[in-house]
Amino acid sequence: MQKKQLAIALKIYAQEHELPAEVAALMQEAKKTRANAYAPYSKFKVGAAIQLSNGEVVTGNNQENAAYPSGMCAERTAIYSAGARFPEARIEAIAICVKAHNQIISQPASPCGACRQAMAEYEQKQKTPIPVYFMGETGPVYKVDAVLDLLPLAFDSSFL
Ligand code: THU
Repeated sequence: MQKKQLAIALKIYAQEHELPAEVAALMQEAKKTRANAYAPYSKFKVGAAIQLSNGEVVTGNNQENAAYPSGMCAERTAIYSAGARFPEARIEAIAICVKAHNQIISQPASPCGACRQAMAEYEQKQKTPIPVYFMGETGPVYKVDAVLDLLPLAFDSSFL
């Protein structure tokens, strides 16, 4: 039997203003779109902004449904929109932020498993790593250099 240790590298910006200017601007876009989330059931709003190589920023927020599983997370709303609108563009970075109605979230909330899988698909498609920045409503911003850092041992098309 062999043991293998999997480690991920996380960069932590103690405050938002420490982010590089272009990433801070992307996070602002994520915050803007977060305000438009349709989250009447969870009252937990999420915004995602995607910087594309063609200069476009594509945003998305969570969209809930009375039939709960029919709702969609912000990250997938954004990345599917980017894929639909600009299939040839490379994704350069993703910024994500959250806001709850009943508490101030001051620690980064990381993307759910399904969104990691969806983002990993586009990382594999474009064959270059996608940096992901994520934060709470306030507080530090976490950065991973690649989606796969959030999803070690990911399932991908090489198995098919
Ligand atoms: N949500 C996201 O938009 N992204 C995530 O990565 C985690 C959860 C949404 C789904 C639902 O509308 C609400 O947050 C509460 O789970």
